[in-house]
Amino acid sequence: MIAVDRNAPKALHRQIYDAYRNAIVKGSLRPRQRIPSTRVLASELGVSRLPVLNAYAQLLAEGYIQSRVGAGTVVSISIPDQLTSSKPTSVPLVATPSGPRPAARRASTFAPSQSSPWLGGWGAFGVGQVASDQFPLHLWSNLVARRCRSMDAKAFHYGEQKGSRALREAIASYLRTARSLHCEAEQIMVVSGSQQALEISARVLLDPGSRVWMEEPGYRLAADVLTLAGCHVVPVPVDKEGLNVAAGVARCRKARAAFVTPSHQFPLGVTMSASRRLQLLDWAQSSGAWIIEDDYDSEYRYRSMPVAALQGLDAHARVIYIGTFSKVLFPSLRLGYLVVPWDLVDQFLTIRRAMDLGPPSFHQDVLVDFMSEGHFARHIRRMRVLYRDRRSALVDSINKELGPTVEMLGDEAGMHLAVTLREGRRDVEIAERAARQNLWIWPLSPSYIGKPSRQGFILGFGSTKITEIPSAVRQLRNLLTNK
Ligand SMILES: Cc1ncc(COP(=O)(O)O)c(C=O)c1O
Repeated sequence: MIAVDRNAPKALHRQIYDAYRNAIVKGSLRPRQRIPSTRVLASELGVSRLPVLNAYAQLLAEGYIQSRVGAGTVVSISIPDQLTSSKPTSVPLVATPSGPRPAARRASTFAPSQSSPWLGGWGAFGVGQVASDQFPLHLWSNLVARRCRSMDAKAFHYGEQKGSRALREAIASYLRTARSLHCEAEQIMVVSGSQQALEISARVLLDPGSRVWMEEPGYRLAADVLTLAGCHVVPVPVDKEGLNVAAGVARCRKARAAFVTPSHQFPLGVTMSASRRLQLLDWAQSSGAWIIEDDYDSEYRYRSMPVAALQGLDAHARVIYIGTFSKVLFPSLRLGYLVVPWDLVDQFLTIRRAMDLGPPSFHQDVLVDFMSEGHFARHIRRMRVLYRDRRSALVDSINKELGPTVEMLGDEAGMHLAVTLREGRRDVEIAERAARQNLWIWPLSPSYIGKPSRQGFILGFGSTKITEIPSAVRQLRNLLTNK
């Protein structure tokens, strides 16, 4: 970052001093950032050590840098704020634009679903949060270390674009036995979570202007992907049996696709009935539409065996299946998968290649070990018991504290349940007040694309300990009673 000019009239030590001082003042070098030793810098600049020693002595004396035992020489932490501010007041590094600059129309007209305080909140009832304290971290770190130690030249290179063969085999075998899917490893594509799975699917299957059925209320992050792809999202109401296929047909028979969460509808938690599943498959076959099945947390069912996936019933290869490790392991892993009908495999691969060159290999390899050594199945079994107990404690507390003031929905599966409020209550307002008290209840109404027909909350219990539940529900009751 520093260059010196031997022929310049300015002395070398002064050039070095000025270069460092400017970098510190402009914020390119930040407090605590390490700078090279005098020996290393002298050798990099091809000068003797003397001018470097002189420049460093001056910087030290003026307080720009300091020597720390064991840490070498670092930018001083005690220089005045205005000198180290990332937005220098004197000479800006990059001119600040005077107004908004034109982004592409797609970006500037995109109106994503509300970004809300409770999306990132950490505390009781956070949605999508897993019981991280119960994750077998010691074992996982041993697998990570083992894989790291055995990285050969191949492991440094690009991995397979569809994802590691071994992982795809493990996923296919798991899906056939645990989710009743018809699939082979060749049909599987490993992706960075459901979100990317949907993005790839939209690029392969949908055109700008394509109409897509979306559950109402539904998973707004999925609607965002479709909207960004230029699709026209058609909200189709969900009732006790899941997406109402007849209503979808009445609204838009010619839709190109339907996005559904049949095992555990998000957010209401209902399971799609067998007759609705058959109706949906019939509609897809007769109108040449695709069904995008998001099976995000189906492993957790508490009163019965997990319900088989819709893909397993599909005799006409109309279903694109999306699965994720975000709920069964943890979301920051960013690993999920697509199961694609045979005839679409190559097209999915071609499009994916243009988007990225495949998922990162390392954690796929760790996951292969985790799955093949039986830890995955064991972890799911343990978590099913843990979440079942958390869910029961939550249901009991809601019954005790909130009683008939709310209706509870979708408590048989997954890691969240929904409660709906009686007429006249505004869920967003209450959720905002709750967030200020560190209670991360998600309001239900923003999950509607059209006019919300219900107000209520989505309560996650994955990361909420049994001991925390009664007081958190009491807190919710107080929020509901103090209008
Ligand atoms: C309906 C639904 N699908 C998928 C996911 C998981 O998304 P990802 O795999 O991108 O983490 C979630 C997470 O909350 C969800 O609610």
